[in-house]
Amino acid sequence: MPDPIRVETAGPVSTIRIDRPEKKNALTASMYDSMSAALRAGEQSDEIRVHVFCGSPGAFTAGNDIKDFLAVAAGGEHGGNALEFLKTLVGVTKPVIAAVDGLAIGIGTTMLLHCDLVFATPRSLFKTPFLDLGLVPEAASSLIAPRLMGAQRAFELLCLGEAFSAERAEAAGLINAVVSVEALEDKAQDAARRLAQKPPQALAQARALMRGDPAEILARIDEESALFAERLKSDEARRAFEGFLGRK
Ligand code: COA
Repeated sequence: MPDPIRVETAGPVSTIRIDRPEKKNALTASMYDSMSAALRAGEQSDEIRVHVFCGSPGAFTAGNDIKDFLAVAAGGEHGGNALEFLKTLVGVTKPVIAAVDGLAIGIGTTMLLHCDLVFATPRSLFKTPFLDLGLVPEAASSLIAPRLMGAQRAFELLCLGEAFSAERAEAAGLINAVVSVEALEDKAQDAARRLAQKPPQALAQARALMRGDPAEILARIDEESALFAERLKSDEARRAFEGFLGRK
C-alpha cells in the first residue's frame, strides 16, 4: 500500500500531504511516523525553509484512526507515534503553515495550535470530540487554546466538543483567514514562498521569541499524554470506539 503521507518538495518549501481520503485522512501510527520523518528531513535540509501541511479535498484529517485507538483499548501497545509527532512539531525551527479544507478533527485541530499560519476553506470544520470518546485534550491544547481564544471558548471546543466553523475559528484566532477551495493551496504556497525569502536566521529567532519556552508546552504534552494513555484503556473510551466502528 502506498504511504498515505506524500512529501512534495518545491524549492524551499516542503509540503506534507495527508492522502487517505477513503478514511477521511484518519491518521495511523505509520502516518504519524512519516510526518515526523518529513518534518525532521525538512529541518535538516539546507534548502528547505518552510513546512506546509495539507490534506485531501474535504478532509484535512478526521484525527487519530479509531481502529488504532481501539487496539490500545483492547490491551495493545500504545506506540507513542502521535506523541512523537507532536513533540517533533513543537521542536521545529522553520515555519509551519497549514492549509485546511474540510474536516479538521481531534489532532487535525490541535496540531494547528503549533502552526505559524493557518488558512482554511469556508466548508472547514474544527472539532475535538475528546470528551465524547472518553479521552482528554492533547497536543498541549489544554494550555494553548485557553490562552489563544479565552477559557470559555476553549472549553466549548475542547470539552463541550462543539464544532467550530471556519468563520468561528477565525474569530477565535485559530486560523488566519478563510480562503476559497480553489485559492487555498496557492495561498499557503504563496505565504510559504514569501517566508522563504526572509533572512532565515532572523526568522528563526523571531519565531522562537514569539513561541517562548517550548519546555512548558512539552511538559503539558507529557502531562496530557499520561492521562490520555490511561483514558485509552478505560471502559468509557472502549465503548465509544466500538460505537463508532460498529455504527454502520
Ligand atoms: N478513524 C478511523 N476511521 C475513520 C475515522 C477515524 N478517525 N474517521 C473516518 N473514518 C472512516 C470511516 O469509518 C469510514 O470508513 P468505511 O467507509 O470503511 O466505513 C470512512 O472513514 C468515511 O467516514 P464516514 O463516517 O462514512 O464519513 P462521514 O462523512 O459520514 O463522517 C466524520 C465523517 C469524520 C464526521 C466521521 O467519520 C467521524 O466522526 N469520524 C471520527 C472522528 C473522530 O472522532 N476522530 C478522533 C478524534 S480524537
